[in-house]
Amino acid sequence: MRLRESGMPDEGYWESLLEVELILDCLGIDGRIRDAVELGCGYGTFSIPVARRLLGTLYTVDVDPAMVARTRARAEAQSVTNLVCKALDVMAEGFGVPPASMDACLLFNILHCEEPVRLLRLAGDTLRDGGAAFVIHWRYDPATPRGPSMDIRPRPEQIIAWALETGLFTHDGKVIDLPPWHYGLRLARAPR
Ligand SMILES: C[S@@+](CC[C@H](N)C(=O)[O-])C[C@H]1O[C@@H](n2cnc3c(N)ncnc32)[C@H](O)[C@@H]1O
Repeated sequence: MRLRESGMPDEGYWESLLEVELILDCLGIDGRIRDAVELGCGYGTFSIPVARRLLGTLYTVDVDPAMVARTRARAEAQSVTNLVCKALDVMAEGFGVPPASMDACLLFNILHCEEPVRLLRLAGDTLRDGGAAFVIHWRYDPATPRGPSMDIRPRPEQIIAWALETGLFTHDGKVIDLPPWHYGLRLARAPR
């Protein structure tokens, strides 16, 4: 099932709101990471630049076949070959990768979903010890030009509390500023 308020506006408008390379630099998503999995490729806005940075493969999924088609087409046009993109409902089917196989799991603009703790558990299950979930979300500020309704929009402290509730993550207390409109978190996979 499509997660609540996860529809996308026009591609050009969406991408005008995001400083993608800066966000990835600030999060530390680079060649130290081998394989990663992403929930919700959308237009491939992050998927393609992330795949370019990884040492291994980016596995990305989306419940919307049109988003999968768009991301695949962009990857092909840009000769990005280390990206595997599948149509899949993560809440029903999981991430579609073997347990404990990933260095990183990307949860970008999605933790306003109905069951964030369950989603974080699914994310934690994909990660090998020493891996991390990377979260970005719209600031808790009604002045942002886009983003989910304020009544379901999580503050960073809320996401950290959900992550700790899973028992699968630790967090160093750092909230990463991702101008102009986002914040980020790196949630470390606790050892098994
Ligand atoms: C708000 S968009 C964010 C896309 C991308 N992460 C970004 O930040 O550019 C959320 C994406 O998640 C997808 N999505 C929603 N529910 C999903 C589910 N249950 N399983 C997989 N993808 C889902 C939507 O189709 C949409 O493309």
